[in-house]
Amino acid sequence: MADGAEKTLAKAIVGGPRHVAIIMDGNGRWAQARGRPRLFGHHAGARRVRDIVSSCPDLGVEYLTIFAFSTENWKRTQTEVSGLMNLFRRYIMKEMQALLRENVRVRFIGDRPRLDEKLRDLMDEAEEFTRHCTGLNLTIALNYGGRDEVSRATKRLAQDVAAGRLSPDDVDEETLPKYLDTCVLPDPDLVIRTSGEARISNFLLWQSAYAEYEFVDTLWPDFTPEIFTGLLCAYGARDRRFGAVSA
Ligand code: FPP
Repeated sequence: MADGAEKTLAKAIVGGPRHVAIIMDGNGRWAQARGRPRLFGHHAGARRVRDIVSSCPDLGVEYLTIFAFSTENWKRTQTEVSGLMNLFRRYIMKEMQALLRENVRVRFIGDRPRLDEKLRDLMDEAEEFTRHCTGLNLTIALNYGGRDEVSRATKRLAQDVAAGRLSPDDVDEETLPKYLDTCVLPDPDLVIRTSGEARISNFLLWQSAYAEYEFVDTLWPDFTPEIFTGLLCAYGARDRRFGAVSA
């Protein structure tokens, strides 16, 4: 490794984010620019997922949460939706051994009942097979929407109140996150969105209240571990105040 690259990595580890969340946008435009169907871009995007996952341990990232399919993505054509669902099934089947080898613990967030049974079974298996892994915590958001997650959480919380298991007086900022899909994860420190769009599109709404954001022009299939490293370095230079003032 070149001296410069070594320094970049070392800097990324010191003071870098523990939890990075990524909105992987731009697969469709990447494919269109090559005169190919949108699914071609999603397949290229899946290869990028592998590269970024593998780069995390060296960069000190302990949690990586990626937005793979939103509750709004069902509005796409039937061809694209079923192509994406096939891709997710294939990704889980194909990558499971590699993820195990890399000691990656896999989790899924999102509303599962609307996903097909075969995909749900694979998601359960992936979570079960990697339960003992102690390396990177990879969370894949599938049929996920922040508002949907908060609504589902509130419903369960209300059921606990109605059943007398929870008092309304005990409902506060500590209680509600226990009902979210992300209840075992720390809040993201850094949220990245690729493809030049500067919006959060219903991703981790509650959890990202104090996250830092990076919006980069690169389309997701072109997002390399080097670009990722650069963003982690930039994060290390930020002053996070959480509403207080600098020391
Ligand atoms: C947004 O780009 C991307 C998606 C809706 C799908 C994300 C999926 C992947 C990166 C594929 C693989 C993921 C896993 C976990 C295997 P877009 O299609 O909206 O792009 P556009 O804005 O250019 O149209």
